[in-house]
Amino acid sequence: MIRKKLSYSLKNEVLAENVYANNDTLLLEKGKRLTTSDIIRLINIDIDSIYVEEEQKNIAIEVVSQVRTLWSQEDKDFTEMYVQNLDQTKNLFTQIAENKDISLQSYLNGYSNMLESVLEHTSMLHTLHKIKGHDDYTYRHSLNVSLLCGVIGKLLNLSLEEIWILGQCGLLHDVGKIKIPVNILQKKARLTNEEFKQMKQHSLLGYKILCNIEGIERHLREAAHYHHERLDGSGYPEGRRGDEIPFYAQIVAVADTYDALCSDRYYNRRISPYQAVQELLESSFKNQLNANIVVPFVQFMLSGYAGYSVVLTDKTCGKIVFIPPDEPDRPLIQTDTGYVDLRQRRNLEIAEIM
Ligand SMILES: [Fe+2]
Repeated sequence: MIRKKLSYSLKNEVLAENVYANNDTLLLEKGKRLTTSDIIRLINIDIDSIYVEEEQKNIAIEVVSQVRTLWSQEDKDFTEMYVQNLDQTKNLFTQIAENKDISLQSYLNGYSNMLESVLEHTSMLHTLHKIKGHDDYTYRHSLNVSLLCGVIGKLLNLSLEEIWILGQCGLLHDVGKIKIPVNILQKKARLTNEEFKQMKQHSLLGYKILCNIEGIERHLREAAHYHHERLDGSGYPEGRRGDEIPFYAQIVAVADTYDALCSDRYYNRRISPYQAVQELLESSFKNQLNANIVVPFVQFMLSGYAGYSVVLTDKTCGKIVFIPPDEPDRPLIQTDTGYVDLRQRRNLEIAEIM
């Protein structure tokens, strides 16, 4: 941590120590990312300096700004919770990478509120993929996959206990990536065969990491190990088929694929959620992803986009005005000059949701 003089330039930095008022009332909690109103509160009680975390431990400011722009108007509490959980996920992974003894339980206390909030406000997931750039991708991906897993669990009518385990499976499914060399993880070109072979090791490495953490559920280890397996045997690391793949790992596979496709990664640019669900459906037709998981998830994601502005692949801009129940991936779009019915115009797709 580092002591810094209080000023508005500390906005977005993370408190490294609790801050108390003169009467010992807790004003701001350690781990909180500072907002302008936090700084005003501190100025008003004549605090002149505070301890903040050194920035590399926290999520990139660029990501935080985008999150705040995206959700602050809609749900301020959710926004701050998401930012705080991103920071904590990064810290957790860093501590695991440094072989420190971690307290998973204390980390999960903050995470459980986030998951609960998403289960109540599932619509937040529809805007999750507007964040651009690949800064801190692994941490954002882990948190997003965990939230998507939680919602899939809810759609499948799993119990709250099962949803809780599933959320943790999503959160830690890629923990093995902390052992993959950064030059491979962040390579901005296609991986060579040898590099890809190394990258694929992350599932086994994640399994081994989780075997060494006390109190970890078996399901979490299995999800890390088998989330790249596919039902037709085409996945890795063991080429398992069908029911040989644990069900939680099958759910993580769906959430993982969806989030990866909708996010800017180091090598690939994101595609729109509409294009991503097409890929999920195709994978389920090929018996790679489980259709019993993909179909309700796709229906849920698509049903939430009524009223959203979109850009089509021919650059036409418009708004989704009708989602046909039989083909929810081919909605009716209202444009400045009329309507585009994607059920008729099969050559067009939704390239971006605004
Ligand atoms: Fe993975």
